[in-house]
Amino acid sequence: MEVHPKKNGMNRDFLTYQAQTSPHPLGLEVSHAEGSHIYDSSGKAHLDFVAGVSVCSLGHCHPKVVAAIQQQAERYLHVMVYGEYIQEPTVAYAKLLASHLPSNLETTYLVNSGTEAVEGALKLARRVTGRSEIIAAKRAYHGNTMGSLSVMGFEERKGAFRPLLPDVSFINFNELMNLEKISERTAAVILETIQGGAGFILPNFGYLKKVRERCDQMGALLIMDEIQPGFGRTGKLFAFEHYDCVPDILVMGKGMASGLPVGAFSASFKMMQTLQNSPKLGHITTFGGNPLIAAASLATLREITEGELIPKTLEKEKLFRTLLKHPLIEEIRGKGLMLALILKDKEMADRVILECAGKGLILFWLLFEPRAVRISPPLTISKEEIEKGCELIIETLNGIWNSS
Ligand SMILES: Cc1ncc(COP(=O)(O)O)c(C=O)c1O
Repeated sequence: MEVHPKKNGMNRDFLTYQAQTSPHPLGLEVSHAEGSHIYDSSGKAHLDFVAGVSVCSLGHCHPKVVAAIQQQAERYLHVMVYGEYIQEPTVAYAKLLASHLPSNLETTYLVNSGTEAVEGALKLARRVTGRSEIIAAKRAYHGNTMGSLSVMGFEERKGAFRPLLPDVSFINFNELMNLEKISERTAAVILETIQGGAGFILPNFGYLKKVRERCDQMGALLIMDEIQPGFGRTGKLFAFEHYDCVPDILVMGKGMASGLPVGAFSASFKMMQTLQNSPKLGHITTFGGNPLIAAASLATLREITEGELIPKTLEKEKLFRTLLKHPLIEEIRGKGLMLALILKDKEMADRVILECAGKGLILFWLLFEPRAVRISPPLTISKEEIEKGCELIIETLNGIWNSS
């Protein structure tokens, strides 16, 4: 076995025994985390502007989420595969979610991850329409299992895994002319409401409504992937609420349980019924709807919808935009607390991310936009924390400016 000779202890074991996804992991050794901070094994605090990539909506170890997990852990954990037994937190969660969604999204299937939710949504669309074609957007990211990879619009990251799903075609996000591709053969169009990996690209005014209209004309379903923008991150519970466009199938994940692995897709009761027969068990999952995760999701949803977090998200966006003014920042993309600084090139983005990491500020990359620096902090981040982090970013940019 190849062990990494230059590293010691935990770091060496991490690189040797835990499968790696890149040759240069950040390798922060975590001791504990609380609120907007992650503490490393030397005791240093790192201000978190990333929230585990839009996951820890309520910050790290929010007391209400921790209490919900602890209480549920004392009652029962896994008792049966998805959908057989009545488990109170799972039912309560699906019901509460329905009360916050448009009436055609009343029934929810809870799964284990975002990508599994996308798989479920694609299968559901094929079952409901009896059609096979799926249309996705170029530069879209929907996850990494084979079906989700098939609808990813970035050949460099998927070519090596072909053959993928047949009958998938692509349109340019925000291009109205392309909507002609949606036809009576199309089972579904899948779109991120706000394109994440592509660089936090917002839909142009009216675009999603036009997609909706074309889908209705052709009898195709519209699947919206809100795995990243969902659960309050953009200043509404779901980003589609900004654009006056309701999907047929809504896909969720990430911030839903504020730090536990989860995914879900919602559709009408009638559509969801198709998973019950011909064949029955149209989607099977052992751990989907897990009571511990449902309890954390319930606590998260209550906190997000009952408190002031959602309106404050837009105030916090304003603060970021006011503080992050610098000649090296070409643009700030995104909405709410899903923001991306667009810099001159990849080298500059790398420098800002790595130099800020050294100063105790966590920033991150976006998948397909090398010039971007991701800012997606917990929704609970305070004004003072935003000010402190932005000061570190500006200080770093000044250093780059002065050295060039
Ligand atoms: C828009 C979008 N869809 C799907 C996924 C996949 O979710 P997961 O990593 O939980 O499978 C992600 C994750 O980054 C995402 O941002």
